[in-house]
Amino acid sequence: MKKYIISIDQGTTSTRAILFDQQQNIVAVSQEEIHNSFPQPGWVEQDANEIWLSTLSCLSSLFLKSGAQPDEVASIGITNQRETTVVWNKKTGMPIHNAIVWQSRQTAAIVERYKKMGVEPLIKEKTGLVLDPYFSATKIRWILEEKNIQNTEDLLFGTIDTWLVWKMTNGKVHVTDVTNASRTLLLNIHTLDWDKELLELFDIPQNMLPQVVDTSGIVGYIDPIHFFNTSCPIGAMVGDQQSALFGQSCFHKGEVKNTYGTGGFLLMNTGDTPIHSQKGLLSTVAWKIQDEVCYALEGSIFVSGSLIQWLRDGLKFFKSAKETEDIATSVDSCNGVMIVPAFTGLGAPYWNDECRGAIFGLTRGTDIRHLVRASLESMAYQSKDLILVMEEDLHQKITHLKVDGGASANCFLNQFQSDILEIPVYKSVMTETTALGAARLAGLACGFYKREDFKDGKLEEFLPQRDHESIEKLYEKWKKAIQATQMY
Ligand code: G3P
Repeated sequence: MKKYIISIDQGTTSTRAILFDQQQNIVAVSQEEIHNSFPQPGWVEQDANEIWLSTLSCLSSLFLKSGAQPDEVASIGITNQRETTVVWNKKTGMPIHNAIVWQSRQTAAIVERYKKMGVEPLIKEKTGLVLDPYFSATKIRWILEEKNIQNTEDLLFGTIDTWLVWKMTNGKVHVTDVTNASRTLLLNIHTLDWDKELLELFDIPQNMLPQVVDTSGIVGYIDPIHFFNTSCPIGAMVGDQQSALFGQSCFHKGEVKNTYGTGGFLLMNTGDTPIHSQKGLLSTVAWKIQDEVCYALEGSIFVSGSLIQWLRDGLKFFKSAKETEDIATSVDSCNGVMIVPAFTGLGAPYWNDECRGAIFGLTRGTDIRHLVRASLESMAYQSKDLILVMEEDLHQKITHLKVDGGASANCFLNQFQSDILEIPVYKSVMTETTALGAARLAGLACGFYKREDFKDGKLEEFLPQRDHESIEKLYEKWKKAIQATQMY
């Protein structure tokens, strides 16, 4: 008897496996940290084999923790950090270079080359994306050039969803879903297929690319060797931000969610047509489930929760991110301090890959508490930048915001987010909305869940509490800080 769905959430800083029951409740969670390496300023790489091994180890500890049996699992869903690029040899299974992480700026020179060719409008029209090192195509090009590859016959490319499915099926299945494919700069988001003109432009042979499949649907079976002698269907592959949109039940046009993960990602469901932004937002595929295609408008922030990680691990300000709420509320204000966390440049809506982070307003009175508070506030200011351009693009007001992700556990952040946006913020009480999205999609694929089972979970409300004038003043200061950071 099938009792569970497993959702594998392979994120930038950790891999997690989460077991969901028939009522979409969490039964057990296992987690392993992933190492990031920073070979040069602005570069971020990971070991693709470590990502795979961490997935196996999370699966195994999930069964140990929960007592569930592998043959009780109806389906596995995979949700993943998007854009991160792996190129491997299909004969040996070995990656030919480290995975280049989405945050990495190491392809800036290649991007510049393409910008000079004047192809950005064409790329934007076809892919809904901007020409930036964030996306996979220039990362693939970089690896091919770095390794001086002349013959790509034995090479395969994949984002993390593709890599994991290929490993889980022992090299039998090479696929990606539309949401992940829509982050490569190679998918035409109108036809939902690889675009020949773009493949030629980036000089990437189609034989390296995975087949594009639906977001929900059985793509293959995990090999029993990896699953305690049992096989189980892999029923969903979905980019983590689209998964959170689905997990937050943003099924209707106009619904918006904001996830504070390693980065910050604000997505609005725009229904069955992509909206091309005039203001630096991205059009992306939210999901494809048989004939239903849904698009989203997205604002991507490169550094959000990872700023808190830096304060913890880099500056050793505290031991656990949980402490930040108490630290931030132990002072009344940031004492004039503003932090712009442009560690790897700025994403939407600025798209500046050259600028780097900055702290403004330091005095002898500044201490750790102000820096922690300013860090949390910067996450909210960055989200406001996105909300404002989204409203301009759509000529409509956003009336409320659903939030999730690790940092949404911080009530100070949620309250400040509501204050600075001057709209209600709703925090999902069930924090694993990203994993829930993939679980729902995987459950749908095998009939374990039905679409009508997917409803809003419990939400905690944060209402704006500050006066408009003081908010205006603070936000003006933020804009000045952003400007100064870009000029430095
Ligand atoms: O586009 C990058 C995004 O998918 C990474 O998500 O959760 O690792 O910050 P996360």
